[in-house]
Amino acid sequence: QQTPSSLITIFGATGDLAKRKLYPSLYHLFTKGKISKHFAVIGIGRREWSNETFQEHVRTSVHNAIGSNENIEEFVSHFYYQAHDVSSDESYRELKTLSDQLDEQYQLEGNRIFYLAMAPEFFGTITEQLKKQGVTDAKGFQRLVIEKPFGHDLPSAEALNKQIRESFSEDQIYRIDHYLGKEMVQNIEVIRFANAMFEPLWNNRYISNIQVTSSEELGVEDRGRYYEKSGALRDMVQNHLIQMVALLAMEPPIKLTTDEIRSEKVRVLRSLRPIEGEEVKDYFVRGQYGPGKMHEQAVPGYREADNVDDESNTETFVAGKLMIDNFRWAGVPFYIRTGKRMETKSTKIVVQFKDIPMNLYYNPGKPLAPNLLVIHIQPEEGITLHLNVKKTGQDIETTPVKLNFASHDLDGINTPEAYEKLLHDCLRGDATNFTLWDEVKLSWAFVDKISEIWESTQQEDFPNYPAGSMGPKAADELLDKDGFNWWPIGKLDVE
Ligand code: BG6
Repeated sequence: QQTPSSLITIFGATGDLAKRKLYPSLYHLFTKGKISKHFAVIGIGRREWSNETFQEHVRTSVHNAIGSNENIEEFVSHFYYQAHDVSSDESYRELKTLSDQLDEQYQLEGNRIFYLAMAPEFFGTITEQLKKQGVTDAKGFQRLVIEKPFGHDLPSAEALNKQIRESFSEDQIYRIDHYLGKEMVQNIEVIRFANAMFEPLWNNRYISNIQVTSSEELGVEDRGRYYEKSGALRDMVQNHLIQMVALLAMEPPIKLTTDEIRSEKVRVLRSLRPIEGEEVKDYFVRGQYGPGKMHEQAVPGYREADNVDDESNTETFVAGKLMIDNFRWAGVPFYIRTGKRMETKSTKIVVQFKDIPMNLYYNPGKPLAPNLLVIHIQPEEGITLHLNVKKTGQDIETTPVKLNFASHDLDGINTPEAYEKLLHDCLRGDATNFTLWDEVKLSWAFVDKISEIWESTQQEDFPNYPAGSMGPKAADELLDKDGFNWWPIGKLDVE
């Protein structure tokens, strides 16, 4: 489906996100014929660049990310640049003039998207000025796309939301959570709601626990300044992990509309058992990486990174147990974990089914393996179902097997990057895979209680996991005390 004509204004056009994700994604959409030829992009940045310098920047970004040049000249000819001071009225007046001019030149029908790919402290000022100086006074749709972090905690997110809502209504706001653009995250709903065999079992009668792991190999890199104030809980749990849990736990929506899906997710978040005070230590574990080895190479610990305190109390790893106190999920733990500098880069969901009522095939020392449904989010994309079958031979002995589906088997094409899908959705006006304010609010409320405790107590054993491992021992103990264990990531791969 082709998108309507539109003018896309990117604040932070010279930044890293625009270079790595936005230009390559737009280019993909352009070469696939997914966006209307009636489009133009205004890049906004502080640097004094000409249109030509900007176009060269876009050309190089696309080339570095994709390695292709097909129709690149036609693509970059739609890009314009404006040097801009976010707090000056004059800058917005100039932006309005340029927008109106491009609107006419490209017949954009007054449709405008404002993409804020820059430091969140400017979000409020920019949205206020866009309205005040009349940049949003065009006859078509006006949409605002906002990158995370959406606030630092609930009060700051509320303040930010209030500010933005003075200029844009909730249905004009597209809050990015790039995990919602990932192919296999979008597949969670399809696996659940398009198959007869899962939904009847998708509850506390048949599922014993669900594990969501998102491990990264990268360390904090050059983001020390941001990360010191954030940590893994705010950086990954408040958004990406909680979003995956909501998709796994939600009730079937009555229709696949934005409002229906998002309200089902909100209901899950409203059922999350709040964890506070003394209980935090029973449900959540934090870790920080020390020096270690990644692929045989020695790497320094978190505290040695730039802009990180020598005695930093910031967590680079979180494991937690979420309980969803509703009829469907009462008693089923959702275990989550995420961390930097872990053994491998992998995001996987493991749904572990309960043991069968009676094991007819019991051999001493060899219990039956539980059935598992594994959803491979990245780097490989697919599904695996773990079953028990008869071992070939005379005796009736069981052996576990994996039924695999790898998504690249489907049609041999590379799945589009999350940003490509999300940009396309926004251009089409589909906000389903963006987070609603209520979701943001509820997940901050949940996470804030944990960070309050963590920030008020210094974790004495930091660093408590070496780079290149799967996190601190306490993360294993968290499951151990419930009689479970983390399914080893490496052994679960799609084959
Ligand atoms: C971002 C976090 O939201 O997600 C980063 O700020 C993290 O710290 C990244 O590295 C992980 O995304 P992905 O798509 O690589 O799993």
